[in-house]
Formats: sequence, structure tokens, C-alpha cells
Amino acid sequence: MKQPNKTTWFNLPSLGLSIRMLFTGYLLTIGFGLVMAGAQILLTHGMADGKLGLSVDDIVYSYYGNRGNSKLEAKLNGSMKDKAPEDIRAKMIRWARDGASEEAWKTDVKPEVDLYCAGCHGNMPGLPALTNYDVMKEIAQADQGASVDSLTRVSHIHLFGIAFIFFLMGFIFSFSVGIPKWLKEVTILMPFIFLILDIISWWLTKWHPGFAWFTMIGGVGYSLASSFMWFTCMYQMWVMPYNGKDYYINTWED
Ligand code: HEC
Repeated sequence: MKQPNKTTWFNLPSLGLSIRMLFTGYLLTIGFGLVMAGAQILLTHGMADGKLGLSVDDIVYSYYGNRGNSKLEAKLNGSMKDKAPEDIRAKMIRWARDGASEEAWKTDVKPEVDLYCAGCHGNMPGLPALTNYDVMKEIAQADQGASVDSLTRVSHIHLFGIAFIFFLMGFIFSFSVGIPKWLKEVTILMPFIFLILDIISWWLTKWHPGFAWFTMIGGVGYSLASSFMWFTCMYQMWVMPYNGKDYYINTWED
């Protein structure tokens, strides 16, 4: 049985202060979190091709790898470029391309690594200890991109964690007023679809670099949808209640 007037106050502009505080606290926190996630993406993936800013190349390097190329070579031409003079870097790259043999390591490469790299790559936690031949050999091999191990780990963390963020955001947004019904429905579903597309695209990109575009589309897609929801919710909770109008709308009614 339909009881039309029971829930007509349950929309964003009509909510009481306490629940608006709860929704707002949550939105502020995830807003901050999304900005940090963006910065993190720029700093890790954004630098993968050695240039600042996220490009399709970065995504290809991160997931497909740079298969004609070793991580050592990529870094020596990228973010480690200023760490050693040109001829030393060229020598290290030649060594990697020639198969990273242990003899040449001892006589030619190790002394340079001790001199130019060991200051950081010897004792700083989190950085590979390049003075160790086994570690260096690994890094001097052709770059295969993200490993299945790390993709599985990052995929499930993203799917579970981000779905939770989108769920609560979509839940709050479902109480918004004045948005065309179709647009509201599409906006609520969109982040989930783009998230799934994003994660699947990492795996596809590992297999073929052409799929890096889907990672871009996925990321842009859910950023747009969640920004739209975020700003709509904030506006409806903190501007609309003070414009002197009443909103008798049951936002969950079909
Ligand atoms: C001033 C400190 C510093 C020096 C010196 C330095 N590095 Fe690095 N290196 C870093 C930092 C910080 C990172 C992580 C950030 C990045 O990947 O750019 C890194 C990352 C790397 C990586 C990628 C490691 C990984 O597993 O992702 C390689 C390879 C590398 N450096 C090689 C070198 C070589 C070769 C030299 C010497 C010519 C060198 N680095 C000198 C600080 C340094």
C-alpha cells in the first residue's frame, strides 16, 4: 500500500542537520581521498615514461611493460637520468642489453654502481639494493610490466575498496532532487561500470598495449561521475535548504 506523504522529507535539501553533518563529513573525507589518489597516480604511473603527467604511454609502461627494454634502461633514461653522467649510463645500458653477465658486472658495472647509485640503492628501505648482482640482474632484464601477482592483489583491493566508496556516494546522491530520473539512474550505475572496465583494462593492457585507452576512459569516466555526484550533494545539502523553498519529494519513488 502506498503512503505518499510519509517520506517526502527524505531528500537532501530537507534533511536535518545531524544527518547532513554525517553525509558531509563522509563526502569531505572521500573528496580529500580522491585528490590524494589522483596525486598518487601522477607520481607513480605518471612518471613511468619519465615525463610528468599521465599519458597512454605511462599506462602501457606500467602494465604491458617496455619489452624491448629493461627497467634499468627505462629508469636510466627516465627518473634516474640525473644520477650518473651520460657515458656511465650508456655503459650500464649496454651491459643490460648484452645480457647482464656476472663477469662484466664485477669489473665494469659494480664500481660505477657503488659510486653513483649505492648512496640511495644500498641502504634506503623500499629501494632495490642495486649493489647486489641478483637484484641488478633482475632489473636489467626486459621489462614485462606488472606481474600477475601484483595485478591480482591491486585488482581485488581496488574492486572491494572503491565499490564501497561508490556505494555510499551513490546512496547519498539517490536523495538528490531535481535531477532527471534517467540521469540519476545512469550516474549511480556509471562509477561501478567504469571501475570494472578500469580493472579489466589493466589485465588486457598487460596482454596488449592497445587496451591502455580503456584504462584512461575508465578513470576519466568514474572521476566525472563521482565529481558530479559530489558537487550535486554538497550543493543540495548546503545551498538549497536556505533558498526559502520547500521540497516535498520522495526521492526513492518510481
Ligand atoms: C638520490 C637517491 C638516488 C640515487 C643516487 C639513485 N637512485 Fe635510483 N631511485 C631512487 C628513488 C627515490 C627511486 C624510486 C622512485 C623512482 O622510481 O623514480 C629510484 C628508483 C630506481 C629504479 C627503479 C626501481 C624499482 O624497482 O622500481 C631503478 C632501476 C634505479 N632507481 C636505478 C638507479 C641507478 C642505476 C642509479 C645510479 C646510476 C640510481 N638509481 C641512483 C633514488 C636514487
